[in-house]
Amino acid sequence: MQQPKSFPFDIRDVEERENEELCKYFSGVNGKCNIQVGPKKYLLLSDYKNEAESIYNMPLRPDDIFIVTYPRSGTTWTQAIVWLLAYDLDFSTANKTPLEERSVFLEFPMLMHKVLLDKLKKVHAGKEEKLKALDLVSVPGTVQVAAMPSPRIIKTHLPMSLLPPSLPDSCKVVYVARDPRDVAVSFYHLTSEFQSFKFNGDFKSFWSLFVKDLVYWSPFFDHLKEAWEMRHHPNMMFLFYEELSQNLSATVKRIADFLDKEYTAEQLDDLCTHIKFDNFKNNPSVKMNIVNLRELGIMAPKGEFIRKGKSGGWRDYFDADMSREAEDWIAKNLQHTDLRFPTV
Ligand code: A3P
Repeated sequence: MQQPKSFPFDIRDVEERENEELCKYFSGVNGKCNIQVGPKKYLLLSDYKNEAESIYNMPLRPDDIFIVTYPRSGTTWTQAIVWLLAYDLDFSTANKTPLEERSVFLEFPMLMHKVLLDKLKKVHAGKEEKLKALDLVSVPGTVQVAAMPSPRIIKTHLPMSLLPPSLPDSCKVVYVARDPRDVAVSFYHLTSEFQSFKFNGDFKSFWSLFVKDLVYWSPFFDHLKEAWEMRHHPNMMFLFYEELSQNLSATVKRIADFLDKEYTAEQLDDLCTHIKFDNFKNNPSVKMNIVNLRELGIMAPKGEFIRKGKSGGWRDYFDADMSREAEDWIAKNLQHTDLRFPTV
């Protein structure tokens, strides 16, 4: 009898011509680092291979909460909200302990690829503390997650199909989506500052890769649609960044209800004040994470996670041709689905 495969998808190198295009712009990775996974060809970095099977088969706990997003869709914001709701609004710990420690980023070690690690180890040669910190951020995500206390709030940008197939039957999942034009602008800024990728080019070049699904964790629309199809599952919540930004308190209340958490209106108001953009931007637990990444050289000195926090900011980056192309691209991809982005 044939044994069930423990990881059912092919992992391939990116086709030569596309890889050349990728390497032309993403100077942080060397050409051998780019892989595509499964029939949808999710673009990831090759160290994902070390963890693909462990992630796919990771033991889940019934009180786990996954936060699943395409990058730059409001992950950090949602992590902060969900963590506080799950942990009895413990603002004191939330202010003291870095968010990424309280809510581990499952596939982060994939970003610490050999090219980057070798470079950073040279930069920090002889500095024991820094070298130890580099080792720590390279510990496999499933190992980090196994050591987390319950309830675990787990962050990932992996699409649903690459996560354990028992999701969302076995525990709750919050999926957050955002208008791809704002996602692209935000991701462009991050990848330009983030040394794992180090995008060298203007926004137009980034956008042209984005619509060709040649940006990491793409294809964008397959990522969203996989979760959208599961949205009626009682353990699944499909949220839009735009809902958080247009009506924070009502959306936070919906998340609390989804997590079966009861808080008074006053308590939820306190939570909203805590995670409102201006306060959140200066939140020590978010800053600690950025400072750590900057000091290690993973993030450029001016790199920010929390940037503008607006919906519709893409209009400053798209000329008329790009706007038209974007509209067509979105319409084409939404053709056979009732998924729609809230209008802003
Ligand atoms: P911008 O770059 O458009 O400002 P992620 O956490 O998935 O990487 O998403 C990052 C995006 O969410 C960034 O978008 C960031 O500014 C925005 N964001 C983070 N916290 C926010 C908050 N409290 N309010 C509004 N937007 C927030």
